[in-house]
Amino acid sequence: MSPRSLWMRTVLGQIALVQSVKETFDCRKLLRLKIPSCVVSARSCSSMSGAVEDYKPPEWATKLTYIPKKRIHLAVANTPIHTWKVPGLPADFSVSIKRDDLTGSTLSGNKVRKLEFLMADALEQGCRHVITCGGLQSNHCRAVALAARQLGLTPHLFLRTDATDVKSAGCEGNMLLDRLCGSHIYLVPRRNPFLTHLKPRMEQLAQQINTASGEDSYLIPVGGSNKTGLFGYITVFEELMQQGALDNFDDLVFACGSGGTATGLALGNYLTNGKLRLHAIAVSDNATYFYDHCDETLAEVGMAHLNSRDLMRVIDGHKGKGYGISTEDELEFIQQVAMETAILLDPVYSGKTALGMVREIHNNPGAFQGRRVLFLHTGGIFGLFDGRMTPFLEQKQEQEPLIKMWPEVNDCPL
Ligand SMILES: Cc1ncc(COP(=O)(O)O)c(C=O)c1O
Repeated sequence: MSPRSLWMRTVLGQIALVQSVKETFDCRKLLRLKIPSCVVSARSCSSMSGAVEDYKPPEWATKLTYIPKKRIHLAVANTPIHTWKVPGLPADFSVSIKRDDLTGSTLSGNKVRKLEFLMADALEQGCRHVITCGGLQSNHCRAVALAARQLGLTPHLFLRTDATDVKSAGCEGNMLLDRLCGSHIYLVPRRNPFLTHLKPRMEQLAQQINTASGEDSYLIPVGGSNKTGLFGYITVFEELMQQGALDNFDDLVFACGSGGTATGLALGNYLTNGKLRLHAIAVSDNATYFYDHCDETLAEVGMAHLNSRDLMRVIDGHKGKGYGISTEDELEFIQQVAMETAILLDPVYSGKTALGMVREIHNNPGAFQGRRVLFLHTGGIFGLFDGRMTPFLEQKQEQEPLIKMWPEVNDCPL
């Protein structure tokens, strides 16, 4: 071989080597090559979160006529319970907090409890796509998107919004995470009801996906609140029992947004002899809507004889200006709680609920069974980052500047 062709071979060899190293580290190529096992096989990847396993309900729930067959562990369970000196509480009441906001980092909050059953069902049915819906800042949609990606499935989110174009939908809070994990997002008008406007779109999309790829989609309703998701809070009720909550508390307070958490807890409490009194604070819709939703779900698991009005109190009057809209008082409360207790509440669910609880304790103490109240923190932290706190905190800064410039060592601003 001539020196020239030897040189050519070496150079070409080096180019090929550089090319292959580049390709190895080009993540777009990696994804296209489907190297990560979770992209190749949803089922094998499920071991990241614990495999899909057979589900056995607690003994007290075995009489239900519908019980999911499978469950997958996604949540960090046995979330702690500790005392909570929530501001504004009368001296004769004590409040503790169950930290379901700590079920995970991105998979935090009550939604992941329901997804343990819904995602297991999706995998069991061999679906490759998950389709769901909610508001633009939906915690549920964000949890679905990330859980789907964790399990190698493709998330599709229908998000209700006033945005009139894709750009104005923004990239804050939950939306940032939805976009970060590459969700397919379809923006729909905010006032579109689920049954008449969203469900038909979701079904159409599933059909289109199937025609194009032959792959099946799993449809999850608003908030994951159906008879399968219900078992998320059946599980939590068992957890509460094991943590001694039935002996240590008289009352349980929690947010009610699509009704699934309320239904699971109400059923758990009923089936275990109703030791706690349940107070569901409505942050959307109204009490009648939630009682009806709960009764429908109860009927689907063989409990049609129950009336949810006998199982819990759904409380109206704490929605403020409406679902997802914050008042100055609510933002003030969220900040006060953060300053005094370092518990972070979100403006859409836990903030309104905690404030509602304090107001109920003041205005209607007789509605409580006792004086030992447990507040269930259902998460929602990414809602704090949706941008609404910025003008509030800027106004605070003007009133009492806590941020100060200190450009030079000897230039102390105090
Ligand atoms: C953070 C948070 N808390 C509470 C709720 C209400 O729970 P549910 O939809 O089960 O009523 C939701 C969702 O709606 C939520 O995202």
